[in-house]
Amino acid sequence: MSEAVQPWWRTAVIYQVYPRSFADSNGDGIGDLPGITAHLDHVAMLGADAIWLSPIYVSPFDDNGYDIADYEDIAPTFGTMGDFEALVAAAGERGIRIVMDLVVNHTSDEHAWFTESASSRESATSDWYIWRDPRDGHVGGDAGAEPNNWEAAFYGPAWTWVPARKQYYLHTFARKQPDLNWENPDVRAAVYAMMNGWLDRGVEGFRMDVINMISKVPGLPDGELKASGLGDFTPYVFNGPRLVEYLTEMRERVWAHRDNTILTVGETPNIPETFARQLTGPGPLDMVFQFEHVDLDRGVDKMHPKELSLPALKESLSRWQTELADEGWNSLYFENHDQPRSVSRWGSDGVHRAASAKALLTVLHLMRGTPYVYEGQELGMTNMPFASIDDLRDIESTRYYADTVTRRGVDPELVMNGIRRSSRDNARTPMQWSGAQNAGFTTGEPWIAVNPNYATINAASQVDDPSSVFSYTRELIRLRHEEPIVVDGRYALIAPDDPQVFAYLRRGAGQTWLVLVNMSDAVADVPADVPSADWTWVLHNLEARPERPAAAPLVPWEARVLRTRAAV
Ligand code: GLC
Ligand code: CA
Repeated sequence: MSEAVQPWWRTAVIYQVYPRSFADSNGDGIGDLPGITAHLDHVAMLGADAIWLSPIYVSPFDDNGYDIADYEDIAPTFGTMGDFEALVAAAGERGIRIVMDLVVNHTSDEHAWFTESASSRESATSDWYIWRDPRDGHVGGDAGAEPNNWEAAFYGPAWTWVPARKQYYLHTFARKQPDLNWENPDVRAAVYAMMNGWLDRGVEGFRMDVINMISKVPGLPDGELKASGLGDFTPYVFNGPRLVEYLTEMRERVWAHRDNTILTVGETPNIPETFARQLTGPGPLDMVFQFEHVDLDRGVDKMHPKELSLPALKESLSRWQTELADEGWNSLYFENHDQPRSVSRWGSDGVHRAASAKALLTVLHLMRGTPYVYEGQELGMTNMPFASIDDLRDIESTRYYADTVTRRGVDPELVMNGIRRSSRDNARTPMQWSGAQNAGFTTGEPWIAVNPNYATINAASQVDDPSSVFSYTRELIRLRHEEPIVVDGRYALIAPDDPQVFAYLRRGAGQTWLVLVNMSDAVADVPADVPSADWTWVLHNLEARPERPAAAPLVPWEARVLRTRAAV
C-alpha cells in the first residue's frame, strides 16, 4: 500500500482516556468532559493522533459506564452534549480525532429497551434481549432452575429471573448488563442508527466492546464445570456463527458509504489469530484487541496470576506479527482500563521503574500495528497498594471478593493478594497530573484514592524533562510518524529462547532496524544471533551510550534501537 492511500489509523497512535479518572473540572471527585478538554494539550504534546474515550453515555455506572442506559446522550456526571461538542472541536483544532466506545453486546437494565422488554412478553421490545424459560418443566411457572449452567464474567449465574415475564434473561457480565438479542433485526437497525448519529456528530471511529460476543451458539448449551460450581460459557459466546455477518452488515449500514475514513477496533477476547486475520483483512474491522499476550500470566483464573515467561510473550506477539503481516492489521497494547499497570506487571516498579517503563514501550511501539497508550502509561504510572477490599470500586473485584471470601470462605488475604496484582482498579486510580493535592486530579474527594506515589510520578515533572518516560513515549510516537519502516517494515524475531532479551528486526526500504531490549533486572548479553553490521543509533532509554551498541552487555531494562543500511 503506498503512503498516499494509507488510512490515517495505520500511521497513528491512539491515546485512551478513562473519563472518570482523567481530570475533574468541577470538584465532585469524578473526571468529566470539560476536564478532558482542559488537558488536550497533554495529548497533543505527546503527539497522539486520536483519543479513544471509554464510555461517556448515560449510565447507572455499575460497570463504570460499560452499562449504558441511553446511547444518545451524555452522562450528566460527565457533562452535556455541548461539552462533548466542545471537546470534539477543541481536539480537532489540535489534529486529534475522537473515537467512541461502542458497547452493544449488552445495555444497562435501566435502558428503556430493557425496562420495556422486561415488563411483559407482549411489549414492543419483547424480543430485544435473550429471554428463556426456566429449565425442567417450570415453563410459565416458578423460577425453577436457570436455563443453563453458565457463570457470568462477573461471577454468579449468567441468568436473572423476571417475575413479570416468568422468564430469565441472559447477562454474560453483571445482572445489570442484559445481553442484547442480535438475532433480532430491529436491535441491529437501532444500533446502526445510533452509530450513524455519533459519526454525524464528528466522531471518527469506534472501539467495540466485547464485539465478538454478539453472536451466541444457538441452543446455549451447558458449559464445562468450573471450580465455582458453574459452567464455562467461553465456547458458546465468543466468535459465534453469525458474527461476521453482523459486522459486515454493520459496515454496510454505518461506514462503508461515508467519505471519511473511520477507525474500527473490536475488543475480542479468546480470538485466534487466524480468525483475527479474517476479520481485519478482507473482513469488516480495521483491527482487533486480542487477549493472548495479556492472558499469558494468568493462572487458574485472572485473580491467580503467575509469572510471565518472556519466551512465551515473544512467541505470542511474534506469531501475531507474522500472521497479520500480509492480510489484516494488529493493534498493539499492554495497558487499558481492564489491565493492571504494565510497569508493575511485567516491568520493575522499584529502582528500575522509569527504565522498565521505557523498555516495555520500546518493545510495543516498534512493532507493526497501531499502538495504544493508556492514560498514565506515558508517565510510567504503577499499580496501587490497595490495603483492603474497601479501597476497591470495580464491580469485578468486589464481586470476586464476595464470591470467594463471603460465599466460599476463601482466606481474605489470599484473595486480596490476587486482587492487588490483577484488579482493574490498578489502572483506574486518578491520572497523576502534578504533586499538588490529589495529584491535581480534583479539588474534591476523588471517587477512588490517588496512588500515594503521585508526588514523584506525575505529568508536571515529566513533560519538560527530556529523560522522562513522557519524553521517551513522545519520541516513539515521532518515530512512527516520521519513519515509514516503523509502519511498514517487515518483522522478524531473533533469539526466541533468550530468557532476558526481547530482540527483533524490522526490515524496510533500504534499511534494517534492530530493537534490543533487556527485559530483566540483571545484566544481559547481547544474543549471539544479532547480525553484525555498522549499526548506528536511533533511540536509547539511558543516558550513557555504549560504544559497541550491538555487542556491549545490556544493563537492566536497557533498550537500544539501532539501524543499518547494510543487508542483514
Ligand atoms: C469490556 C470492557 C470492560 C467491561 C466489559 C463489559 O471488556 O473493556 O471494562 O467491564 O467489557 O462491558
Ligand atoms: Ca466532575
